[in-house]
Amino acid sequence: MWDRGEPADSSRRLSRVDVEHRSEPAGDADSRDLAGVYRYYELAKRAEWQVRDLPWGDVSPIPEYKGSPQKLARRRDLWRSVVTQQLQADELAVEMATQLFAIAPDRDAKLYYTTMVQDEARHTEAWLKLIEEAGGMAERDPYLDRLAQQVLDADTIEEKVFLMQVFYERLIIPRFRMIARSSRGTVLEDLCNRLTVDDGIHHGAGMAYERVLLEDAGKKVKDSLVKAANRLLPLFAQHALWRPKAREFIGALMRETDLRMLKEDLEQGVRLAMSLGIDVSDIELPY
Ligand SMILES: [Fe+2]
Ligand SMILES: [Fe+2]
Repeated sequence: MWDRGEPADSSRRLSRVDVEHRSEPAGDADSRDLAGVYRYYELAKRAEWQVRDLPWGDVSPIPEYKGSPQKLARRRDLWRSVVTQQLQADELAVEMATQLFAIAPDRDAKLYYTTMVQDEARHTEAWLKLIEEAGGMAERDPYLDRLAQQVLDADTIEEKVFLMQVFYERLIIPRFRMIARSSRGTVLEDLCNRLTVDDGIHHGAGMAYERVLLEDAGKKVKDSLVKAANRLLPLFAQHALWRPKAREFIGALMRETDLRMLKEDLEQGVRLAMSLGIDVSDIELPY
C-alpha cells in the first residue's frame, strides 16, 4: 500500500523496520527536508482522541429549546442540517486524505497522512453518532460534493494540498468556532472544539508540505495553482452562501454574515497563497 504506482524504487518505500526504528525524520530519496511535515506527524499522534471521549449521555447532543412543538421541530431541523453538512464534509475529507496518502511522493508525508486519514475517519464516526442522536440526516449541500470532486480530480499533489489543506482546512476553523459558540454545553460544542484543533494540525501540515513541494517548483506549477483556485472559488462561494430548506428561515438574517465570512475567507486564502510565494495577481475573486 506504500507503492506510488510507479516503477519500484525501494529507497522511497517505507518498511516496517523503518517505522519502528526511526526516530529522526529521513526525508525522501531526493533528500528534501521533510522535518517540518514530520513534526505534524508526531503532533497529530499526541492530539488523537476517541469518539467515546465525547460527553455522550451527560449533556444533550444538540441545543435544546423551550417553546411550541413547531418551534422545537424547526430548531431541531436546523441543527440536523448543520450536523449533516459537517458529516458530509468529513466523509469527503476521508476520501481526500486517502488520496493524498496514496500519491504523496515523500515517505514522511505519507506517514503524516496516515494520521489525517485516521482523523477524518474519526470525525466521520463522531458525526454519524451525533446525527443519529439528533434525529437523522437532512439535506446534503450539492456544492460541497462538487467542491470535493474538483479536489479529487485535480491533476497534481501541489493542487490538492493547496485546495484542501492550505485553503479549505483553514477556512473551516472559524465555522467550527461559530457553531461551538451557538451550541454551548452540548456534545456538538465539544466536538467542534476538538475539530478546531485537528483541522489546525491538518492546515499546518499542509502549509509545511506545500512549502516543500513548491521549493523547487517552477512558474508553471505555481500558475497551475492559481488556475485551480480560479476554478474552485466560484463553487466555494456557492457553497458558502447555500442555505438548505431547513435553514431558509434564517437565511435572510444570515446573508450578511455569510457574505462577510466569505469575503474574509477569500482574503485569507489570498494571504496564504502569497505566503507560499504564489503570484496572486491573476486570482479572480467571485466577490
Ligand atoms: Fe475533519
Ligand atoms: Fe481536516
